[in-house]
Amino acid sequence: MTLYRGRIDAGANALMDALNKSLPVDIRLLPFDVQTNRAWSTALQNIGVFTAEECAAVHRELDAILARYEAGEFDALPDDEDVHTLVERLLTEALGDTGARIHTGRSRNDQVACDLYLYLRSELSVLKGHVQHLVRILRSLAQTHIDTLMAGTTHVQPAQPITLGHYLLSLAFVLTRDCDRIADCHRRADRCPLGAGAIAGSGFPVDRIAIARALGFSRPTENSVDTISHRDAAQEAAFAAATLLTHLSRYAEDFITWSNPAFGYVRWDASWSTGSSMMPQKRNPDAMELVRAKASRAMGNVVTLLAMTKGVPLTYAKDLQEDKAALFDALDTAVLTVQVFAEALSSAAFVPERMRAVLTADMLATELADALALKGVPFRTAHERCARFVTLLEEEQRDLLGTTEADVARFFPELADEGVVLSYDGAVARRQIFGGTSATSIKEQLRLLDAWLAQ
Ligand code: ARG
Repeated sequence: MTLYRGRIDAGANALMDALNKSLPVDIRLLPFDVQTNRAWSTALQNIGVFTAEECAAVHRELDAILARYEAGEFDALPDDEDVHTLVERLLTEALGDTGARIHTGRSRNDQVACDLYLYLRSELSVLKGHVQHLVRILRSLAQTHIDTLMAGTTHVQPAQPITLGHYLLSLAFVLTRDCDRIADCHRRADRCPLGAGAIAGSGFPVDRIAIARALGFSRPTENSVDTISHRDAAQEAAFAAATLLTHLSRYAEDFITWSNPAFGYVRWDASWSTGSSMMPQKRNPDAMELVRAKASRAMGNVVTLLAMTKGVPLTYAKDLQEDKAALFDALDTAVLTVQVFAEALSSAAFVPERMRAVLTADMLATELADALALKGVPFRTAHERCARFVTLLEEEQRDLLGTTEADVARFFPELADEGVVLSYDGAVARRQIFGGTSATSIKEQLRLLDAWLAQ
């Protein structure tokens, strides 16, 4: 059904219709389009386009349209081009000329931008809430595992002992930045496009500041050409989602490895695992594998959104209509994935004994080198001497934890007086530096996280 025929009969070509139609994607903007229409009709009343009664009738009809949407009436899609023409048609069918006057001084160009910003702000808040919830889960797990030793790795090789609490807080802190990025997108989308018109600004003297306030924005957009041309709000929101999911994908990858019985660090609750159709013993970490995979989808959406505007001539072009599928998918994917990750993690069982069992004495080599450096030995020399010592022990099928006083006296006379006590707990406890892995440092990190959560 074509609402605005003008000189063109767009409905005459079925293929063109299928290409051009955005209703299947943008129908979910209907609640926001209703808000936009409500604010616009009030603005029109204020300049005398609607009487108070007509405006009230428009508002009543908008409420009815929203109720019909919520009742699922548009689940089988009507034949309209997009959500904006659908709402306008329904208003016109219900109210005749009064309904048809709603499009006075307005274009779908500023309308779609306005709906999009409203959607973005609402969905980014939802996403931020889920990320904050995950941060709280990580905080509580970190508290529980403040003393749980694990083998910290670099290059997937044993590096130094750390604690599981420290590891989990690393995710909590990167998520605080993801949250800040989301909040930043939210803040930049805090300007109201309505009144920009098709390109030049509305031809009617509506009060854009009042419209912005009515829709919960703090101010109107500053330039009408900018308003209808750009989609950076969608692009950066998709980027924030992709960055967040990329972070989760790395932890998911570690957790998948950890759930291999050869590691056995973690066991997923059965509800987050799947079996195999053939191998009866299987317990696959599918939830984490899908978390790992979703990042690629989010990245694809960022590329889609950037490519969609690259080189597109100003101002509006129909290219921009393609933004919604990618943006919705980016944010839907992020919201789902963060929830899954949070729930799966909070029901997982970490196995401290298994984590401790894989610690190897060579991971204490840095402790020995540090002890020498503390005695004034240049670190390069200390490093070399310790490496030689570890090799020798290896040849004798011994390790650093089997070091005797005689060894120390022979190889490290500098340390002969006080000896050197090597232990995993000691290595961790020694790192009381700000940001370090000791329980003291972790407690400080928990306090910082609490302060962040409280703001
Ligand atoms: N459905 C369209 C979109 O999403 C609405 C804008 C149409 N504007 C136009 N000048 N044809 O972008």
